[in-house]
Amino acid sequence: MDIRISPSILNADLSHLSDEVARIPSADFVHLDVMDNHFVPNLTFGLPVVANLRASCALPMDVHLMIDDADRWAPSYAEIGCESVTFHIEAAAEPVKLCRTLRGLGAKASVAFKPATGVDAYAELLPEVDQVLIMTVEPGFGGQSFMEDMLAKIRRVRELIRALDKEIWIEVDGGVNEQTVELAAAAGANVFVAGSAAYRNADPDQVVQGLRARAERAFEG
Ligand code: DX5
Ligand code: ZN
Repeated sequence: MDIRISPSILNADLSHLSDEVARIPSADFVHLDVMDNHFVPNLTFGLPVVANLRASCALPMDVHLMIDDADRWAPSYAEIGCESVTFHIEAAAEPVKLCRTLRGLGAKASVAFKPATGVDAYAELLPEVDQVLIMTVEPGFGGQSFMEDMLAKIRRVRELIRALDKEIWIEVDGGVNEQTVELAAAAGANVFVAGSAAYRNADPDQVVQGLRARAERAFEG
């Protein structure tokens, strides 16, 4: 399964988004963290900003919605052309319906799990999704440390996916760096968000290439 690197611009200069995205040409996606100050205790940007960025953005968009009432808001991100739309399972009333809507609009349907949310209760949702996002920090802020106890959850999701015989990606988000990317890849993750690791470096594109090389070596599908 291909490795994808999706840098998060949360820790970039948000007043120059297009320029910041242009600094990561080797990335597979740009990861956009939408926060509403309800689902998480932080506020970033919403649909108008993402829609404007869409026009100038050369990379596919990986939108991570950390917002309440995902059923209501997520489809709009697919409608404006975001290639991947992630909603949190804790914030969706009808996740199956939402996945089908997102896919019907041409986006990848992706479901995220906070650290405290177990995955087994949602095994039946897996055939409806293109990607599972495992949070490896509490959502809301960049720059936190990778929670190694989430590796078991990654392994469990990969096991559930293997039984389905479908190509479903596992994305990890939070504290991904040169060391932790290998742990997550060895546990079965194949999509890696990197916020501070990329943008706190003078050359974020080099970080993208380094993470990809390490993940490719370590990946265990
Ligand atoms: C946190 C966000 C992340 C964040 C990751 O809630 O979902 O995407 O940008 O930042 P780092 O890589 O610094 O942990
Ligand atoms: Zn994120």
